[in-house]
Amino acid sequence: MNTFEDLILYYSKILKRENFSRPRKIVEEIVANILNISRSDLFLSFEKNFCKTELIEIEKKLDRILEKDLLEYVIGYVEFYNCHITVNPKVLIPRQETELLMDIFVKSVKDNNISKNIFDVCCGSACLAIAAKRKFPLANVFASDISSDALQVAKYNAKHNKVDVKFFKGSLFKPYKGLKADYILCNPPYLSKKEFDEINNAKEPAIALIGGELGLEFYEKIAKELLNYVNPKAKVFFEIGHLQGKAIREIFSKIPFQKSKIIKDFAGHDRFFFLEIE
Ligand SMILES: C[S@@+](CC[C@H](N)C(=O)[O-])C[C@H]1O[C@@H](n2cnc3c(N)ncnc32)[C@H](O)[C@@H]1O
Repeated sequence: MNTFEDLILYYSKILKRENFSRPRKIVEEIVANILNISRSDLFLSFEKNFCKTELIEIEKKLDRILEKDLLEYVIGYVEFYNCHITVNPKVLIPRQETELLMDIFVKSVKDNNISKNIFDVCCGSACLAIAAKRKFPLANVFASDISSDALQVAKYNAKHNKVDVKFFKGSLFKPYKGLKADYILCNPPYLSKKEFDEINNAKEPAIALIGGELGLEFYEKIAKELLNYVNPKAKVFFEIGHLQGKAIREIFSKIPFQKSKIIKDFAGHDRFFFLEIE
């Protein structure tokens, strides 16, 4: 075994034998990570010989994969809406569904030069806030989280993506006193306690996942306070659990709104809740 292609084939077989899905992708991501190139450029290195240091580094990361660590934590980043987002076990790994939430938000804004206020409540790695500021550079983007560890990652990400996002620490709307949003992006923890317990050995932080006994606690709290923190005609974009559509409509039914809509994800499941305030 001399070339990267040999190495990729060899370890893909090992992961396949251990029942990993998409084993070659995992190995390629790790090799690309060690070579500091993108996976799409990796083919240029297939015929090159690897050195001993590279092999040691690749094997270290593959050992973590075999111990069931998550690929994104092992390589330390994800690509999210053309932004490079660093992740570690203190933050949720941004999901493709959340990219879709971003896309729904972006498509709903007709003008890239808006100078409106955008809040990312429960920001985690700040993937939504950073992508929003990239897309709408004149907007005032604020992001908040209750976890200091998450905020540390979020601030690092903003700096490395060269965007100016104002960060606050605190629970839900508490840190936004005196500010009002024109747009709110929010992917709060929304698993029920039972759903969380069913994830065997969850690797992501419980604080990012559990939304109270039924998974609805954050939406309930937000619904109570929302009107104090929005400008007229504000638009709110939530990610929700796939079985929560009906309950969430009910929770927000007391708020005067012009439009509300449940939007489905790639798999055809209820996944987003959109609200336009009067
Ligand atoms: C589902 S994660 C979403 C992270 C990120 N927005 C994303 O989409 O990848 C939820 C985040 O909410 C934060 N959180 C939990 N309780 C909170 C609270 N009471 N107030 C603000 N943030 C909270 C967690 O620390 C976590 O970072």
